[in-house]
Amino acid sequence: MTVDETLPDHVRRNRAEWDAWAVDFVANGERSWRLGPGDEKWGIWDIAERDVHLLPDDLDGKDAIELGCGTAYVSAWLARRGAKPVGIDNSEAQLATARRLGAEHGLDFPLLHGNAERVPYPDASFDLAISEYGASIWADPYAWIPEASRLLRPGGRLIFLINATLLMLCMPDEQRPATNELVRPLRGLHRLEWSEDQSVNFALGHGDWIRVLRANSFEIENLIEMWPAPGATTDFPEVTPEWAAQWPSEEVWVARKRD
Ligand SMILES: C[S@@+](CC[C@H](N)C(=O)[O-])C[C@H]1O[C@@H](n2cnc3c(N)ncnc32)[C@H](O)[C@@H]1O
Repeated sequence: MTVDETLPDHVRRNRAEWDAWAVDFVANGERSWRLGPGDEKWGIWDIAERDVHLLPDDLDGKDAIELGCGTAYVSAWLARRGAKPVGIDNSEAQLATARRLGAEHGLDFPLLHGNAERVPYPDASFDLAISEYGASIWADPYAWIPEASRLLRPGGRLIFLINATLLMLCMPDEQRPATNELVRPLRGLHRLEWSEDQSVNFALGHGDWIRVLRANSFEIENLIEMWPAPGATTDFPEVTPEWAAQWPSEEVWVARKRD
């Protein structure tokens, strides 16, 4: 394998990790591809689209890009609602699953291998940019937010799901659940490296999110705390149902590009 030295360090490291992790995300991809319009489920708690209404109503004929699409089930949901999605992902192994599932479900849309911080599409190509735990947490917000703004047409929407800032302050590491104590400073929150592997995550405080969005021509329309349904469980180790019932473990930002 040749190492691509032109990629930023975090993109190169995350590519190697995600190519190795892809096998563990096949089953979730298969399950999520099967969810039809109205039955979509988000995030680590399977929160129902019908409860949170993250997807815009008017998707018919809209150009959409999924930034860090993984197995591309969100793109499949968009396609079934009439949009014309494009998925971009940093991991060829994740895209292999996406391509197989696209063929199995009879949905054909472009899937690009690349870095969501530099997307090979012209300015103002899309009406919607979306990311569920994709570029939204694995790419640098000071690179991917300007890129999302460049890709969107005036009036276009950016919707992204991330680990809630509060979770990132209370999580000791990737493998142990968040505690009721602040274990990490909010000040300077940006690039996170974990001792367990070579991956790099990004997180910001809310003030920094607001500033980077506004500096890139976005007006913030909503910040949605994602509350698990009673009885919901997750296989992910970083948070317990009891914690997530009291504090948001996931949040969704909705922003509109200024006209
Ligand atoms: C957790 S998956 C997100 C997909 C899906 N929504 C999910 O939750 O399984 C994270 C994806 O982000 C991709 N990714 C990480 N860094 C990226 C980057 N800079 N550009 C594009 N994709 C990236 C990874 O390759 C991985 O497939």
